[in-house]
Amino acid sequence: MTTTLSVIGVGYLGAVHAAAMAELGHDVIGLDIDADRIAALQAGIPPFHEPGFTEILQRGLDSGRLRFTTDYADLAHAEVHFLGLGTPQKADGLGADLSHLEAAVASLTEVLPVREGAPTLVVGKSTVPAGTARRLAERLAPVDGAYLLWNPEFLREGFAVKDTLEPDRLVYGVHEPGTPAAEQAVAQLDAVYARILEREAPRLVMGYEAAELVKASANAFLATKISFINAVSEMCEATGADVTDVARAIGMDERIGGKFLRAGVGFGGGCLPKDIRAFMASAEENGVGEALSFLREVDAVNERRRTRVVDLAAEMLGDLEGRRITVLGAAFKPNSDDTRDSPALDVACRLRAAGALVTVTDPEALGNAERSLGDLVQLVPGTDEALHGAELTVLLTEWDEFKDLDPVRTASLVSAPRMLDGRNVLTPQEWREAGWEIRSLGRAAVPQTKAPQASLLVGV
Ligand code: UDX
Repeated sequence: MTTTLSVIGVGYLGAVHAAAMAELGHDVIGLDIDADRIAALQAGIPPFHEPGFTEILQRGLDSGRLRFTTDYADLAHAEVHFLGLGTPQKADGLGADLSHLEAAVASLTEVLPVREGAPTLVVGKSTVPAGTARRLAERLAPVDGAYLLWNPEFLREGFAVKDTLEPDRLVYGVHEPGTPAAEQAVAQLDAVYARILEREAPRLVMGYEAAELVKASANAFLATKISFINAVSEMCEATGADVTDVARAIGMDERIGGKFLRAGVGFGGGCLPKDIRAFMASAEENGVGEALSFLREVDAVNERRRTRVVDLAAEMLGDLEGRRITVLGAAFKPNSDDTRDSPALDVACRLRAAGALVTVTDPEALGNAERSLGDLVQLVPGTDEALHGAELTVLLTEWDEFKDLDPVRTASLVSAPRMLDGRNVLTPQEWREAGWEIRSLGRAAVPQTKAPQASLLVGV
């Protein structure tokens, strides 16, 4: 069944959601107050790098089922409105800035009455502190037939299209589970997601606050898992152990699981860092600040990894002043051009601040890097060119092309074969054999001699 939908706020989440809903067969109109973004999307030009997005955007536009606007009046006849607005960290604190979301709900409230009593569903997808949905629902209450449902989004950049069309679960937060109004809203959203539900994606209905907390806790858990292995990484460095051995072995315990145990320079991006801070701020506001105070430590461990890279670089070079360093990576993770709170860019800035002459390269993120750093560091497209003359190479975003670098060939490009692997993706032995001095986060400077049969004993 085709539904007429709107998606308000077509940033990363909203743009992918809009195109994905058109892909499911719905009539979709995406709205944003950023006219340049709307013009680009309407022309089929994706404003960010996301595998598979260009294709579904173009297919949606070609089919006539997807279009974009800056005018709320164009949304009046939609049956379902998704809220995909950003909730960045507040400029003056740890909490989430909900102003975009609140402004959108206010504008939407003005156009909704046009549908004259027909049921209208408003679906929140943004990550928000617990209590937000209930407050927004009160603002929608005067509009006849409008119901707010909170349906958090769990997509990962780099897998956004797949995560939207094949989510591992759908969470519906409703005003009062089980009431006729809630049941009607659930049925309405089920109809929109029918093709996703057919694939037997679990769908969980709960109260507003639980749905909001699912999202906040999922991200806090992921951040904690990364900082946990990075804390262990500090112990590994102090004791001479290899953190990749530890991570592989503990990850084989099904209760722990091997994912998100990649030790390195830590997490960044537009979600995990700001979401753990917003979660802490929200706990404080709810009078249970202590319950989440460990997240301060999660943040601190993450921050320390960045300092550690700079310290290691100084150890390897003796002095950073005037030394030529090439940083491989600008995006906060591979397969993305997003540089928000990117560990790679942050470390590049710190190296520069310590006096090094820094060159940064990245397959996709140099445009965004330039917008945030200007000419603070040298941005060079092309790995070979960027490596030219490097006295130290620092790998901070694990793009395939960096992981696959050949140590022998790479040695011929740089001025000194020194590598700092900030993501533990290179095989140190291979690089040492090719004449490199290589240091990694969470691995001893000089490898411990391992009994060759040690790996055979795993599982005994
Ligand atoms: C995250 C959540 O995964 C997603 O569910 C939510 O909707 C949005 O936030 P994303 O920001 O796209 O998604 O990135 P993610 O893949 O989670 O990685 C976050 C950061 O953690 C990256 O900087 C990545 O490099 C780092 N990371 C991840 C590690 O350092 N080690 C790991 O083992 C995994």
